[in-house]
Amino acid sequence: MTSKLTDILKDAKSGDEVASRVRDWERRFSDTARGREGRAADYQDYENIYYDLVTDLFEYGWGKSFHFAPRAAGESFAASLARHERYLAHRLQLGPDMLAADLGCGVGGPTREVARFSGARIVGVNNNAYQLKRAAELTEAAHLSHLVEYLKCDFMNVDAPDNTFDAIYSVESTCCAPDKAGIYREAFRLLKPGKCLAVYEWCMTDRFDADNPDHRRIKAEVEYGNAMPNIARPQEVDDAVRQAGFDLIEARDMEPDLPPGIPWYEPLVGTGLSFARVRSSTSGRRLTHATLWLLERLRLVPRGTTRISSLLNCTAVVMAEAGRLRIFTPMYFVYARKPECPEG
Ligand SMILES: C[S@@+](CC[C@H](N)C(=O)[O-])C[C@H]1O[C@@H](n2cnc3c(N)ncnc32)[C@H](O)[C@@H]1O
Repeated sequence: MTSKLTDILKDAKSGDEVASRVRDWERRFSDTARGREGRAADYQDYENIYYDLVTDLFEYGWGKSFHFAPRAAGESFAASLARHERYLAHRLQLGPDMLAADLGCGVGGPTREVARFSGARIVGVNNNAYQLKRAAELTEAAHLSHLVEYLKCDFMNVDAPDNTFDAIYSVESTCCAPDKAGIYREAFRLLKPGKCLAVYEWCMTDRFDADNPDHRRIKAEVEYGNAMPNIARPQEVDDAVRQAGFDLIEARDMEPDLPPGIPWYEPLVGTGLSFARVRSSTSGRRLTHATLWLLERLRLVPRGTTRISSLLNCTAVVMAEAGRLRIFTPMYFVYARKPECPEG
């Protein structure tokens, strides 16, 4: 099911409201003086307003799963996303009669795919009301409501008792957490003893040089354009997982392991000649942007829509730059177990 361009921001009550929210978000969070600490302190607003604004454009340009994936030559974009999601189900050995949590579930693309693939019941956790409304609609349309439900809360403080889940996974969402140790402590609390966690984290790789001004600019722009307080180094992630009490079984950047294929950032830079990925490619985004500009002038989409599209276009360019330099990965894979007898 694909979104149409005319669907974008269709539910916005008033054009002025969207325009003022974009301005407010930019004013509050592009302020480098407040920097990362300010964004971390206000992380719920930082991410929530952002996802209110970008979700329709994400769905239009990318689909129902808001993440990247390694892709083999000859594999379709959709198949690569599904394979990346199913890999988590496979590693967690999910099956019927199991209950898992998907932390930061977006509009539920990976939640539904993992449920469909494994037969497990999944609780998608998200603090964004608009995304959860879309997630519920899409889940009903997919006839998966018997397996999938959603919980609206901050994943730093999930509204569920200790030892609830047989497995927890997260797809490119724990990178939004204001505090790495905090998100992994919460996952630890929620998991039953002896059960496992599997995560795709965003990380700056060992090639990232904090003394290189260009690398620092790229990192800052990727963070701002994706509403993330700070992108961690692999070591920080590993330390946070261990400090939470987990046995860290595996932690690795999946990208270098892959057979020669299509880099994760290719859909952002592709030529647009592939009809399937035309929307996310450079030329496709330009076309979308120009169309939105016209629709905004004709008052058919709310004022501010083009500004959101510009932000996403700039972010796509800088993410591709980070990918080409290999200073960043969106697929640092973490697999960890909560001990049978946790200490303390
Ligand atoms: C890059 S998107 C990935 C979404 C989803 N995992 C997917 O792959 O389609 C990050 C998601 O994390 C959610 N998120 C960010 N901060 C959160 C928080 N504090 N609590 C719950 N969800 C959060 C966002 O609303 C968004 O849905």
